[in-house]
Amino acid sequence: MWKLPILESRPSFSGAADTDLVGVFQESAGKVKKAIPIKGVYAPLVERFRKSEVFQGAHGSVQFVRFGGKAPAESCLLVGLGAPAEFSEEKARTAGGNAWGKLKAEKARLAVVHVDTLFGVKGLKTELSHLAVARAFAEGLILGAYEYNKHKSSLLAAKGSKGSEDTHVRVVFVTAEKGLRQQLERELDHVRASAEAIRITRDWSNEPSNIGIPEYFANEARKYARQYGLKCKVLTEREAAAEKMGLFLGVGQGAEREGRIVVLEYVPTRGSKKNLKTVALVGKGITFDSGGISIKPALRMEDMKHDMTGAATVMGAMVLSALWQVPNRVVGIMAFTENMPDGTAIQPGNVLKSRAGKTVEVINTDAEGRLILADVLDYAHDFRPDAVIDVATLTGAVGIALGKQCCAILGNDDLLADAVKRAGESCGERIWQLPLWDEYFDDMKSDTADMKNVGNDGQGGAIRGAIFLKQFIKKGTAWAHMDIASMSNGVTHLSYIPKKGATGLYVRTLARFAADF
Ligand code: BES
Ligand code: MN
Ligand code: ZN
Repeated sequence: MWKLPILESRPSFSGAADTDLVGVFQESAGKVKKAIPIKGVYAPLVERFRKSEVFQGAHGSVQFVRFGGKAPAESCLLVGLGAPAEFSEEKARTAGGNAWGKLKAEKARLAVVHVDTLFGVKGLKTELSHLAVARAFAEGLILGAYEYNKHKSSLLAAKGSKGSEDTHVRVVFVTAEKGLRQQLERELDHVRASAEAIRITRDWSNEPSNIGIPEYFANEARKYARQYGLKCKVLTEREAAAEKMGLFLGVGQGAEREGRIVVLEYVPTRGSKKNLKTVALVGKGITFDSGGISIKPALRMEDMKHDMTGAATVMGAMVLSALWQVPNRVVGIMAFTENMPDGTAIQPGNVLKSRAGKTVEVINTDAEGRLILADVLDYAHDFRPDAVIDVATLTGAVGIALGKQCCAILGNDDLLADAVKRAGESCGERIWQLPLWDEYFDDMKSDTADMKNVGNDGQGGAIRGAIFLKQFIKKGTAWAHMDIASMSNGVTHLSYIPKKGATGLYVRTLARFAADF
């Protein structure tokens, strides 16, 4: 079974590497060749390739060369970095993902990245530090290596039998500069932490919903809480009833499996408690969304196992906050339940009473995410948060509006939205803000109850979802909603995101936000 690669840093490497990794910039015509020299033994090789049409360092391209024993390594992998002027951390990250793809295809076991020389960045006129590039490259490589194969019986059967042990590829980052080496090790630590947190998020999101039921995620959350030093409390449906969470319970009413609300808390152990802020992260955890009585069409309904990705993202962000030891208190609230249609399921036209006291006429049982979130958002206020961010696969409409390049953010506080966007930008995760004018709520008023859960037409769906949630945010509480429905799975254009299944996007954004807030 393939395991995530092991990242190491060393002052030197003289052992038997099988593959040297060499970053190669593309040189634009007419520019001085010497601008970005590739130092050392690979210079002539790279020059030869540059002159040929085969490999010129275009971003996204890779060239594997097997030497057959003569060179310092068995082989080398030239990784295209593109034009120097267009280079960025994100380009380094995707280069890392590309490198992994080729390393795996060529069955490399021990790859070496010479940060000082071969990874031809030094001397490059850019704002980017050596360190930032190495970190982003490592991150792309390890995030790109994720595979979801726990239900492949062929691989499971092979485990333990001779010659088929777990395969760990090692990637060694070498730098002789002592100061740089220490910093690099710290950066690699950060990357290893992201890889672990995002692995959890992706595993959760990919879990089929016959296994990934609310109780399963509650148990998993307890396990990770113990492992990473988080406080953990699990509310059963009985306890949710005591909290008067009528919307949460209404959605789960037609399901055989019971819902759970999981509350995690991270409190920093280091540093002063004086300016300690509290960030509340709230996640939608619909373990399967059939649509309920307003049932969904069959086509691609299997993707609705991913409808708990908001909660999975919160779990990942909690683990990452703990591993990064962010200086703020972080509360994670995950609402898990199934949206199913049985004889006791909520019906269109039913009225439910929320924890906040407001009543909702459920026009469409498929607009269930906003219902469960309304109750847990109200609950989140009890933790006296300085900022509340909810994350949800809330609407198909967000993909219609923005496609699969970014998620949407909406909220009641532009400073908060800006801060989250900045956190996203700093780690290559795109976020775009949509407006949230109160007029969007006009046609969501109900004749029977305080409000309906959908508008009268199908327009502005992502905004309608958010404006519904806003009714449950108290004045003075800074809140942002992230609709990740189009980004939770099936993002195919990034080398460090698996082509199929869960992406694990926005885990880093949220932890980064919690760190900088
Ligand atoms: N979980 C879905 C949203 C979704 C759709 C996520 C496609 C990922 C891919 C959500 O619960 C839902 O069904 N939303 C409805 C809302 C509508 C009934 C107002 C939708 O988007 O159609
Ligand atoms: Mn739905
Ligand atoms: Zn849903």
